[in-house]
Amino acid sequence: MAFSFVALALTGLLILFGKYFILPLTGPGFYGPFLLLCKNIHNFVGPLFTLSIVIFFLLFVRRNLPEKGDLAWAVGFGGMLSGKHIPAGFFNFGEKFWFWVGMVILGSAVSASGWVLDMIVPFMQIEYWRGTMQIANIIHGVGAILMTALSLGHIYIGTIGMQGSIDAMKTGYCDEVWAKEHHELWYNKIGRG
Ligand code: HEM
Repeated sequence: MAFSFVALALTGLLILFGKYFILPLTGPGFYGPFLLLCKNIHNFVGPLFTLSIVIFFLLFVRRNLPEKGDLAWAVGFGGMLSGKHIPAGFFNFGEKFWFWVGMVILGSAVSASGWVLDMIVPFMQIEYWRGTMQIANIIHGVGAILMTALSLGHIYIGTIGMQGSIDAMKTGYCDEVWAKEHHELWYNKIGRG
């Protein structure tokens, strides 16, 4: 999901804005074929992204349901302003927000409109009129920009912004000290506290 998202965000931004900052640097001889490549990568990686968010949803939806402790985390903004750590479960409220708003709502809107733009919507009889494509294009562009903007905060915290989180993402494991520090309610729940 992460790789397909980054590929889509980069190629999507190039489709949208590349003519303003790449074309003047390279000229049309390079830019034409380059954009064609970006567009084809985007069009084929899109359905893979949709598949990965469906799998991700099924794997993690149960752990993203509201729980005790979420409200305190949200009100205190995860301790990001006060510097005081607020205990969280397996996923904290910030992660749940990104799951529901970023992945489920924006991910579905961008995916559904992307399938229309690709003209490959299955099981439905869709007439791909000019108006249909224009609406899909607006939903896709607005959703994609919101999602890409939100993802910058998410990617920052998941990589260089918080020590240990990238290793947990890569391997599926974290050490006990990290678990206690960042997800204390979960740490206690599984009997380590
Ligand atoms: C999730 C991340 C995604 C981002 C950030 C993203 C971003 C974008 C952007 C910015 C554009 C340019 C819109 C314009 O020209 O007005 C675009 C176009 C497009 N996107 Fe996406 N997109 C994503 C996912 C998808 C998915 C899941 C699909 C398909 C299933 C898809 C299919 C398309 C198609 C077909 C186009 C039109 C390309 C063309 O001009 O031929 N995108 N996307």
